[in-house]
Formats: sequence, structure tokens, C-alpha cells
Amino acid sequence: MEITRGDCERDPMTDIAITALAHRDLDFNSPLSDVRAVGLIHSLRPLAGARILDLGCGWAELLLRLLEAEPTATGVGVDTHEAALERGRANAAARGLSDRVRLEAADAVATAANGTGGPVDVVTAIGVTHAWGGARHTLEAVRPLLRPGGRFLFGEGFWERPPTARASAGLKARPEDFLSLSELVDLAIGCGYRPLAVSVANADEWDSFESRWCGGLERWLLEHPADPAAGKVRAVADEHRDGWLGGYRGVLGFAYLTLAASTAPSAPSRWVHRGSTSGRALGAGNEASDSRRSWTADAPDDGGMETAYEIRAIGPEALEQLRVRDDAGRVPRPVRDDEGGSPLRCCLKRSLPGEAILPVAYAPLRRWAAATGADPGPYEEVGPVFIHPGPCSGPDGDGVPEQIRGERRVCRAYTADGRIKEGVLVDPGHPEAAGSIEEALAELFASPDTALAHVRAVEFGCFTYEARRREG
Ligand SMILES: C[S@@+](CC[C@H](N)C(=O)[O-])C[C@H]1O[C@@H](n2cnc3c(N)ncnc32)[C@H](O)[C@@H]1O
Repeated sequence: MEITRGDCERDPMTDIAITALAHRDLDFNSPLSDVRAVGLIHSLRPLAGARILDLGCGWAELLLRLLEAEPTATGVGVDTHEAALERGRANAAARGLSDRVRLEAADAVATAANGTGGPVDVVTAIGVTHAWGGARHTLEAVRPLLRPGGRFLFGEGFWERPPTARASAGLKARPEDFLSLSELVDLAIGCGYRPLAVSVANADEWDSFESRWCGGLERWLLEHPADPAAGKVRAVADEHRDGWLGGYRGVLGFAYLTLAASTAPSAPSRWVHRGSTSGRALGAGNEASDSRRSWTADAPDDGGMETAYEIRAIGPEALEQLRVRDDAGRVPRPVRDDEGGSPLRCCLKRSLPGEAILPVAYAPLRRWAAATGADPGPYEEVGPVFIHPGPCSGPDGDGVPEQIRGERRVCRAYTADGRIKEGVLVDPGHPEAAGSIEEALAELFASPDTALAHVRAVEFGCFTYEARRREG
């Protein structure tokens, strides 16, 4: 696509125009080869007579190839980028597809929320979860659009490896912005889909995508060495290349999930341990790996109602004491958290890459009992937690903290005399577990016997934070 500009002197090149230059050598606006595209189209069969909706279609190359593969299918693509849509419309006309495809300037989120005048057979959304604010919202928004058994081709980034500081900076992303591949698939299952095919961009597809992106700018620079916008375009190319080669190359992956709208009931029933102190191993893991697996489930809508409980971080007085001597009697030593992402119990946030953190032994029930006069006896436990080595901003409120929701948790309820009374497993991907922490705590605090609850990591049981019954 050729980019024409107005008077460069008076009208410096806009970000949109620079993006269009970066896109001009790309076939797809994601790391996707022709061979994989054929495989993805195959995975979405049967396509005869299919109604296809492409959310965030860009110039809609994959949608056009779907329509070429199946002459009885029709498609609608929506995007907010008019220049990309124009390119798609021109391609559709050149390939004789204009009568079977409509490319509209529209917000994908609003399009999905308003419905499409009846269920569709196939939805595609590739590289556009930021529009919904994450993978979960996207999966949830698309699900009602599909007929039972309909397919969703979902293209989304994931962490191939724990993100380094440079990878996060290169992507302008936080560790919790992406999941691991298995977490992403589990999330999709928890949102009411079954995975028909899982495919991942390989290193060649990534390098081809990124170098073509930068190459579009570099070619323009060669063609326009004296253009007043050359410095700006060169700076964009340099920053992008550095973020890719020096940052996220080999760290960020890109997955293509072919998902079927599950015909099984989507609301998970609960898996509850009642009156038992026994746990259940759901896989290997530890405090560190829990902190890396930092996908953040989104808060369920509580309708703005005040909950029966309030979430508490470790309080300021206890923190002061722990920083000097912890609950195991040790003098703690700070460590540098190179990768970041560790759950901090002082502010209920995650550490930043390179930040100093303090591992301490903490006895949550002992400290609660000391304040209430309870005698937990053998139920008292001491375990490892991370805190900031010095004073920090503390938690943002008394709701479930978004940054450290974790993939799976167990909510363990205690009576007023400090005995464990029941536990509820939280695992959005598990058909018999509670789907959210709020759901589990609401159930536990519905019982008047529950005085407080601990929210803990599942595999190693580490204390994450406390839920205390609200007073008054
Ligand atoms: C990474 S590109 C992927 C484009 C296309 N799906 C593909 O794979 O070639 C993301 C696209 O999402 C579009 N987009 C971002 N936010 C959007 C929104 N709220 N509504 C519609 N499109 C949006 C962008 O304009 C861009 O074309």
C-alpha cells in the first residue's frame, strides 16, 4: 500500500501514518505464515454457508482467505482503523469477494455487546484483546455471539518464558497482561469453550513479522532521506527493533486457539472441602512459580453491594516487627527480584522487575489470635511470604486485590476460636471448583460461624491475604 502525505512541512507525519508505513510489507498484522493460515482455516471447518465475524480485522486478510476457501461463506469485519479497512476493501474487490464481505469502521467491543442480529458460526479476534482489557473479557464477550458448537479463532500473546524487565518494557506490558499458554487454554475452557486446535507462532513467523514491520519504515526512510519526518520515523523503527530484539524476542509467544462454543453447561459447580484439613495436590508449584503465573482473573460483578468481609494485607505494626525479626525468630535479609511479579503481602501488589523484596516467615493465625484472645492451638502455622523491605503505599482498598488474584487459590475459613472449619477451592478452569475468590468468600461468610478466612496459594499453601468479617 502506498502512503501519501500532505504538506510535510506543515503537517508532520502522524502516528497513524507511521503505523500504515510499518504495515505496508505485512500480509497479516500478526506473526502468521501462509502455511499456518491454511491450517487455521482448516481447523475452523465446516465453513459451508458460514456467517463469519472478524473483530479487529485490520485489512482482514484472514477473513478474505476464509471466504476464498469457502465460496458459500459470508463475512463481516470491524475495525477502528479506516486506512486498514480501505486496504481490505480494495483487496476484496481485486479478488472478487466484495459481494460476500463487509468491512465496517466500528468498535469491536460495541459490536460484540450489541450482538450481530443472530448467532454466527465463526468469530475471529486476533491480536485485539486490549480493546476489551484482556483475554478473559474477550472470551466472555465473544461466547454469546456464537451458535452452539460455533468456532472462535482467538489469537493472543502469551509468555513463553517469565517476562524480563526489558521484555515488559519493549512491549509496554506488565507481567500480568499475559498468561502462559496452558493458562490461556484453561481460561478459555473456564469461559465456556473447548479447544479444537492449539497452534503457536514459530520463531521464523515472529522474525518475519517484526522485521517486515521495521522494514516498511526502513524502506520509506531510504526513499525519503530528506523528509522532515525522517527523524521521527527512524526513532520509531529503532525503538521497535530494540524492544523486539533486545526485549521480547523469544519471551512473548503468540497463540492461535481454535475454540468451539461448549455445549456443556457453562456455570461450574463447586468443589468444596468441608470440615477437613486435608488438601488436594493439583500440580507442582511453589511460591516463586505462583508469582510468575500471574494471570489476573477479572473481578465478578458484585452489583456494588458491600461484601460481608473485608480483605486485609499484613498490617503496618506487624510489618514493622517482621522487618526486624520474623515470626520464626529470624533476622530477614532482602533479596533482589530480577524478574519481578512476586506477590507482596504488605500492599497486595506484585513486585517490579529488579525490585528488592524481603522474604519473611509469618504466622497469620497467631497474630490474629493475639489480638482477639482466641487459642488456635495446633491450627497455628508459620509460613513464607514476601513483603517490601521498607514502608510502601499499602493496598488500594479492602476488595479482592486484582494483581495477586492468582490462577488458583484456596479459601480457608476459621471459626472464632481459631479452628479450620472448611475450605473452598477457586479454579476458573476446574469444573467442580468455585469460579472466583468473591464467590468462595461469599459462600464461606454466609455461615455465621466463619470469623475469618485465609486466601492461600494452592500448591504450597502459602498465605496470600486475609478476609475478615466486617464489623457492625
Ligand atoms: C494486531 S492488529 C490485528 C489485525 C488483524 N486481526 C490481523 O490479524 O491482521 C489489531 C487490530 O485491532 C484493531 N483495534 C484495536 N482496538 C479496536 C477496537 N476497539 N475496535 C475495533 N478494532 C480495534 C486495530 O485497529 C488493529 O487493526
